[in-house]
Amino acid sequence: MVEKIRNPIIAALDVPSAEQALKLAQQIAPVVGAFKIGSELFTSAGPDIVKKIRATGAAVFLDLKFHDIPNTVAKAVASATRFDVQMITIHTSGGGEMMRAAEKSAQDTAKSLGLPPPLVLGVTVLTSIDSNALAEIGCDSNVGHQVERLASLAVKSGLRGLVCSPLEITDLREILPAHIQLVTPGIRTGAEKADDQKRTLTPREAIQAGASWLVIGRPIYAAENPRAAAEKILSSLG
Ligand code: C5P
Repeated sequence: MVEKIRNPIIAALDVPSAEQALKLAQQIAPVVGAFKIGSELFTSAGPDIVKKIRATGAAVFLDLKFHDIPNTVAKAVASATRFDVQMITIHTSGGGEMMRAAEKSAQDTAKSLGLPPPLVLGVTVLTSIDSNALAEIGCDSNVGHQVERLASLAVKSGLRGLVCSPLEITDLREILPAHIQLVTPGIRTGAEKADDQKRTLTPREAIQAGASWLVIGRPIYAAENPRAAAEKILSSLG
């Protein structure tokens, strides 16, 4: 189980090479709570980068958003658990059986290795999906309803955490049990240039709304001085 440690910043290592990722990680490790390795870095640098970042002692969020039949997702989660990562993502739209299989696999694999189980986080509706896109794939076209439906199913299926957009935190906190950890990307400090994140909150606002963890990419890695940017965000949390 991931303990909620004092520093809730998860720095996204959204860079294309192992060399760049390790350099960034080294620079900011003392001022962030964990590192996120996503599809870009994992696909280019492979499991080796996960092992190298873990070997520094830092907590790792492996964000590969698994979505497949329950048996395959369970095996992928088992493989990720063997890296001793602290968080993993799966798509909740894979269904209840898939989510139960993922959670069970994380628990069983970790137990067999004597490790704490990683937090299996459910992704509900991607923030790039709007009501038209939902209708197109045959879902409830109300994004909020679809998020709540998938979030409730995730909790019923045994997941202990969810990824959600900053503007979903308040509504989800009202309907979810308090132990559910909410991990929130889309964080902007206001100091950086505008980019493709449309629904944002500041780090402090997101924590006040009930986020457990903040995933922060460009405001840290694209800053002139990533370490100073991360320090400033941390101190803004009070
Ligand atoms: O650079 P930025 O702070 O926007 O990075 C946010 C990180 O969170 C990226 O790694 C992105 O893939 C991820 N993410 C997101 N929105 C979601 C889910 C994940 O921005 N809905």
